[in-house]
Amino acid sequence: MAMTRTVLVTGAASQLAQCLELSDAPSGWQAVYLPRDELDIGDGAQVKAVLDEISPDCIINTAAWTAVERAESEPARARRSNATGAANLARWCGGRQARLIHVSTDFVFDGKSPKPYAPGDATAPLGAYGASKLAGEREVAKLPPGQGVILRTSWLYSEFGHNFVKTMLGLLAERDEVAVVSDQTGCPTSAHSLAGLMWRMLSRQAGAGLYHWNDGGETSWYGFAREIQRQGLAAGLLRKEIRVRPLATADYPTAARRPAYSAMDRGRALREFDLPEGDWREALNGVIRAIARQEAAR
Ligand SMILES: NC(=O)c1ccc[n+]([C@@H]2O[C@H](COP(=O)([O-])OP(=O)(O)OC[C@H]3O[C@@H](n4cnc5c(N)ncnc54)[C@H](OP(=O)(O)O)[C@@H]3O)[C@@H](O)[C@H]2O)c1
Repeated sequence: MAMTRTVLVTGAASQLAQCLELSDAPSGWQAVYLPRDELDIGDGAQVKAVLDEISPDCIINTAAWTAVERAESEPARARRSNATGAANLARWCGGRQARLIHVSTDFVFDGKSPKPYAPGDATAPLGAYGASKLAGEREVAKLPPGQGVILRTSWLYSEFGHNFVKTMLGLLAERDEVAVVSDQTGCPTSAHSLAGLMWRMLSRQAGAGLYHWNDGGETSWYGFAREIQRQGLAAGLLRKEIRVRPLATADYPTAARRPAYSAMDRGRALREFDLPEGDWREALNGVIRAIARQEAAR
């Protein structure tokens, strides 16, 4: 009988981990999901003890400090999860030939590129969150060739947890008007499509180094909000159409600076894993339908 391998998923309550759990692990793999209270990746001694016990063949690290604004006032806490946490996992994997699939972000870039960022492009984070994620990438990159995967993604959303799609659906239902930033361009990513790529990497035992992943195309937060409204109305999640007003970043001051442009070139992932091109609007439709099913089941 074929041997079953174990994949450990950290940060079990993340939207990404919940999407992984919803679609089964590839055949030949059993997945173990550990929430923060069972595995705090920032705690080196706990990481060693828990991983020695489970002895995974692969770790998928979805655990992260994702509060971009709060990272500015609490950078040490962001670093603990995003940099020290990644280092702790990488150290364990390095000693045992286990693979580590780690998730990073478009916020490692400064947004000045005139074209979609390629994996090898220079990084220059604008804020504490991006800096902590870049430090984590560097820890994973120290692994021997073939053992580490760094998967950068952007504007992640799903029917789970906190994200722009769910926030926007709430505002569009409650308010008479919503203003949304229109001068930051990037690409939304359904956590389901990212989960699909991860399972494919596992089932093929393939992938190493840096990859970019999003759902294809480019839009602004304003464009994203308009499409959420359009699909929300069509799915019956919204009753009335309110005005969505474009807003300049300069008129919406935040603690964290964000890249004005962060579309990423996902060509390497598409080619190596035979994935269809698709477009972010199609992927959004899958999540809007999932939210409509959740609402109907209430
Ligand atoms: N959300 C986005 O727009 C976005 C964009 C680009 C990249 N990413 C990356 O994609 C990955 C998944 O993001 P997501 O949005 O699915 O995450 P999420 O829903 O915000 O969840 C992150 C989870 O990690 C947990 N966590 C934080 N520190 C931890 C630690 N030290 N040990 C164990 N667990 C810890 C959190 O637990 P608590 O809630 O208890 O703290 C939370 O359950 C992350 O690497 C993130 O940086 C996200």
